[in-house]
Amino acid sequence: MSQRRVPIGVILGFLAAFSAAGCGPREKVARIAVAVPLTGDMGTEGQGLRRAVELAVEEANASKRFPYRVEAVPYDDRADPKEAVNVANLIISDSRVVAVVGHYNSGCAIPAAKVYSRGGVPMITPAATNPEVTAQQLKEEWSGPRVVFRVVPTDDVQGSYAAEFVYNKLGKKRVSIMHDKTPYGQGLAEQFRRRFSQLGGQIVSEDGISVGDRDFKALLTRIKDNKPEGLYFGGLYTEAGLIVKQMRELGMKTAFFSGDGAKTTGLFDVAGEAADGAYLTIVGVPVELLKSAREFVANYGRRWTGPGQEIKPFDHFGYEAAQIIFQAMERAGPDRKKMIEALKETRYQGLVGTTQFDEKGDTLNKVITMTQARAKDRSFPAVN
Ligand code: ALA
Repeated sequence: MSQRRVPIGVILGFLAAFSAAGCGPREKVARIAVAVPLTGDMGTEGQGLRRAVELAVEEANASKRFPYRVEAVPYDDRADPKEAVNVANLIISDSRVVAVVGHYNSGCAIPAAKVYSRGGVPMITPAATNPEVTAQQLKEEWSGPRVVFRVVPTDDVQGSYAAEFVYNKLGKKRVSIMHDKTPYGQGLAEQFRRRFSQLGGQIVSEDGISVGDRDFKALLTRIKDNKPEGLYFGGLYTEAGLIVKQMRELGMKTAFFSGDGAKTTGLFDVAGEAADGAYLTIVGVPVELLKSAREFVANYGRRWTGPGQEIKPFDHFGYEAAQIIFQAMERAGPDRKKMIEALKETRYQGLVGTTQFDEKGDTLNKVITMTQARAKDRSFPAVN
């Protein structure tokens, strides 16, 4: 009687496939890590990004776009740079993760990017706007591959835009500056200062505060004495909301300006009526004005119906980042290294227009919009 021999490699492969899943062959999966703040003050914004990427992933699976399943795996960096590095290390050690959408805060994205480079994992940030997030990759001390991409314009563009608006459009020539000493807040304030001074404007005062500070009245009283025509704040919505609220409580009628990190309905939660009239630059065009985003907005509203699950300001960028990752997966397969090369060649026509990346990984699409907070319906209509 002849006995058929099964090659040992086949047996080992079979065992490996079964042992991983416990009860059946391990399903082929490509994971997209969503590394954002999911808790704390910035959790509202990060949860929005998670929902946007999950929507993109669910659509991809439902349409059987790939011959394997795609998963969105959320990681909470708590808007904390140290936690972002921890999370990035976890992400690179999961071999099923092929790309990252994240991080939200520049202060997190800058150190986490170094970890992704070490792990050879591509990262697309949908929100971190400090130029250094991508520019650090061109420095001599950057030893790994270039893996970082960004679908939003940077703070040199945003800060300059705000300065030109304040000086040219509103005719304000004397402005005080505050920032939260983070790479985002301080960086944005510096870009504002640079352009405002270049235009001939006078910076009356400049002060750093700390994230988590609650009482700005002593500082604001000092600023008030200098009689600035405007106050520009680089930072996030919690501190922005407290500052504008306390300005109004002190009787300061001075115009208040800030950037994309403060433009969210959370500003109204913190400042209430006092937020009314605040000027806030945002990256891109408000999603409600984008014809190309109508289907996304409708699908998002159908998919996410719970309390607090309304669309957040960066969600369409999160969805766009996921789609750009999918395009790279289609061209290169779910392979980290090949996807990095495919991402460099991106030409994607999506919700926010055409995305192509420059040699740093930054989008060539650099639109900024000025908005103005309207308390009565908690909205931010565009004003330019
Ligand atoms: N654009 C903000 C940042 O870079 C959210 O931190």
